[in-house]
Amino acid sequence: MDFDRRIERVLLAAIEPLSSPASPPGLLAATQHAVFPGGARIRPRLCLAVASAYGDPAPEAADAAAAAVELIHCASLVHDDLPCFDDAPIRRGRPSVHRAFGEPIAVLAGDQLIVLAFEALARGAFHAMASGVTDARRAVRFFEVLGGGVGMPQGIIAGQAWESEAKVPLSAYRRAKTGALFEAAATLGALSAGQDGAAWGDLGQRIGEAYQVADDVLDLVGRPEDMGKPAGRDGALGRPNTALELGLSGTTRLLQRLIQDAVEAVPQCPRADDVRSWAVELGDRLLRVCRGPSAALPTVSSM
Ligand code: IPE
Ligand code: IPE
Ligand code: MG
Ligand code: MG
Repeated sequence: MDFDRRIERVLLAAIEPLSSPASPPGLLAATQHAVFPGGARIRPRLCLAVASAYGDPAPEAADAAAAAVELIHCASLVHDDLPCFDDAPIRRGRPSVHRAFGEPIAVLAGDQLIVLAFEALARGAFHAMASGVTDARRAVRFFEVLGGGVGMPQGIIAGQAWESEAKVPLSAYRRAKTGALFEAAATLGALSAGQDGAAWGDLGQRIGEAYQVADDVLDLVGRPEDMGKPAGRDGALGRPNTALELGLSGTTRLLQRLIQDAVEAVPQCPRADDVRSWAVELGDRLLRVCRGPSAALPTVSSM
C-alpha cells in the first residue's frame, strides 16, 4: 500500500488554514515544525489501510480521519518531549519543538494540534454523511472514538499520567499511551468507510502495543543518530520500559504474541488479506528491532 503522498497532502491541507497573517508567527512555525517533516506516519497509514479494505467508499472522510490521528500523534510528541515529561532535545532528527521555539510555545503548539485534529475530524464526519456512507448517529462516533484515544481513562493522556503514579501497570500503560491511538486509527478507518468500526479495535490495540514494545527496545539499544531522538531516556528517567522489565528474550516473545494476535484480529471484510499482509510486514520490521535495531527503523517510505 502506498499512502505516502496522500498522507502528506491531507496533512498539508489540514494545517493550511493556520497560515494567516493573524496567526502569531512563532506559534505558526512551531506547529508546522511539529508536523513536517514527518516520521513513520504509521497511524494514518493504518487508518487508510482499514478504509481501503472496504474499497474506501468515502475517501475524503478517510483522509480527514487519517490527518486527525496524525495531528494528535504530533501533539503528543511535542508534549512528551517537554522538560516536565521526557525532556528530549531532539525529535525526528531536529531540535524538539520546545528547544527550537521555547516551552510556552511548545505547550501551545501541542494544544493547537489537538484543536486542529478535531476540526479535521469534523470535516471527515461531514464528508462521511454527505457521501451517504454514514448517518448522523454514526458521525458522532468519529468524535467519541478519537476522544477515547486521546483522553481518560484509556487514551494518551491517561497513559502519560501513569508516569506520575507510584505503581504503573505496564500493559495498561502501553495500551493507553500508544495502543489507544492505533485503536482509534483503525476504528476511524472503518467508520470512514461506513462500517461500525468496533470490530477493528483489537487489531489497532495490538499493533499499537507491539509498536511501543519495539520502541522500548530501541530506547535501550538504538542510537540517537539512527532514531532522530535520544536513547536511554526510559532508564534515566525511571520510566516503565518493557525491555527493561522482561529482558530481550521475554520482550521478543511478547512482541511475537502481539503480532500474531494482531494478524488474527483482522475482521472479515472484502480485502482482509491486504491488512493481514500489512500487519505481518510491520510485525517483521518490529521483530527485527530485537535482532538489530539500526536495520529496522521505520521511515516514511518503508512501512
Ligand atoms: C513515537 O512514535 C512514539 C511512540 C509511541 C513509540 P513514532 O515512532 O510513530 O514517531 P514518528 O512519528 O515516527 O516520529
Ligand atoms: C511515547 O512514549 C508516548 C506518547 C504518547 C508520546 P515514548 O516517550 O516512549 O516515545 P518516544 O520514545 O519519546 O518517541
Ligand atoms: Mg518520550
Ligand atoms: Mg520511547
